[in-house]
Amino acid sequence: MRKKIVAGNWKMNTLLQDGENLAKDIVKASEAVRDDVTLIIAPPFTHLHSVGMILEGSRILLSAQNCADMDKGAYTGEVSAGMLASAGCSHVILGHSERREYYGENSGTLVRKLRIALENGLSPVFCVGERLEEREAGRHFETVGRQLEEALFALTREQVEKVIIAYEPVWAIGTGKTATSGQAGEIHSFIRKKISEKYGQPTADGISILYGGSCKPSNAAELFSMPDIDGGLIGGASLKAADFIAIANCF
Ligand code: PGA
Repeated sequence: MRKKIVAGNWKMNTLLQDGENLAKDIVKASEAVRDDVTLIIAPPFTHLHSVGMILEGSRILLSAQNCADMDKGAYTGEVSAGMLASAGCSHVILGHSERREYYGENSGTLVRKLRIALENGLSPVFCVGERLEEREAGRHFETVGRQLEEALFALTREQVEKVIIAYEPVWAIGTGKTATSGQAGEIHSFIRKKISEKYGQPTADGISILYGGSCKPSNAAELFSMPDIDGGLIGGASLKAADFIAIANCF
């Protein structure tokens, strides 16, 4: 049985104090969530250590939003996967469309990041998703297929089994426009099929595939009811403890 997961991507939001308070509120509210739902939060780098301390003894796992594609050394401004693990992270989001779009991350960079994260014991939350023009041109399967082939499929089966995938159509991120459960469901099934063709059905059946893009308490239940949608990667709605937990209660 694959895991049901709700992960909060805080992006570049919250000052340290606010982030600490949000984490405390989430810890408190998380007691009401079903035991078989994995909860992850991804605060900004500067908050990781202190939020990690707040999460200690709770059920909530800590993720970073990015890591360097190099191990260590003279890379001013970068944060390594090893540093994240030493600060208490178990996960790292990689390949988010905002990183691809605004910081020029391509599949080559992402292969290095995926490998380095895994070598340091982090589980990547690997994001894929098409832009609006690709969706409108009917090329969404092709785009997502390519993103998988060029980066994820450079990993061994053993490595891939540690990855969580997030399908996030760029046109739905932060726009209030959610993919319908039908649109999301068919891409999730496509992703699982691609993984099964490459790594075999047992591997594909074990990998959690999350939906992201304006997921909120009012639409999560319908999305999560689809057979290949195993949870959500939540941006805006993860900044309010009550909404984040309400989404986790949608399974
Ligand atoms: P959103 O962001 O929920 O605010 O649309 C999702 C994401 O980018 O991970």
